[in-house]
Amino acid sequence: MVVSVGGSVLIPGNEDSAYMKGLAEMIGKVSEDVRMVIVCGGGKIARYYTVTGEELGGTTYQLDMLGIGVTRLNAQLLAISLGDLSSADIPLTAEDASERSSPDNVVVMGGTAPGHTTDAVAAMVAREMHADRIVNATSVEAVYSDDPRKNPGAERFSAMTIDELSKIVYSEHGAGKSSVFDPLGIKIAKEEKIDILIVDGRDISELRNAILGKEIRGTYVSSR
Ligand code: UTP
Repeated sequence: MVVSVGGSVLIPGNEDSAYMKGLAEMIGKVSEDVRMVIVCGGGKIARYYTVTGEELGGTTYQLDMLGIGVTRLNAQLLAISLGDLSSADIPLTAEDASERSSPDNVVVMGGTAPGHTTDAVAAMVAREMHADRIVNATSVEAVYSDDPRKNPGAERFSAMTIDELSKIVYSEHGAGKSSVFDPLGIKIAKEEKIDILIVDGRDISELRNAILGKEIRGTYVSSR
């Protein structure tokens, strides 16, 4: 099982340590039943670095490396909150993450290589582990047909196919832009028949239900 935790969930700047303590406690309990890799996003700190790096004339490669650095820092923060449950050194590749994951070690990591986001990393790790699900802990509570803050009539989906998610990601946001799940991650999940559960990551009981395969209030994206 792979969990992709967005930076907007981990470090929004709103009682982040209290949230991470609660998250670690929940992970400690469920890790007895589920083998887990947790991939951390970069959030607004990553955005600060990439925007500033761009103003300084950085190349796309350099900006991606800044983003990866921040995702790994966030992973180190979460690893601290997990204590003995997680080994302190952060794996740098999907292969390494999959190899190190065991019932006694909840693997926490950030990005791997330039050119994609941590959602795609989560899909790559899920492929390595032969996982059947990715839980995407995000700052929206479900997938909508349109931005619900701008369009009150936007439809909320409790279940959809991966092709339907693909269409929404491309039509609403445009290829390559930040969206509910990275387009490369969607492509890998479709090829490997991995389901994606989109849930409000700040709601720890919802996140636990998604990890344990129980009913969720978010969106279940089926790849089969
Ligand atoms: P995120 O995964 O947080 O990307 O990685 P994001 O989609 O921009 O953030 P959210 O989900 O909307 O909050 C931050 C940045 O780090 C680089 C990319 O530049 C990415 O935008 N990155 C991350 C990589 O180049 N490779 C990786 O494996 C991970």
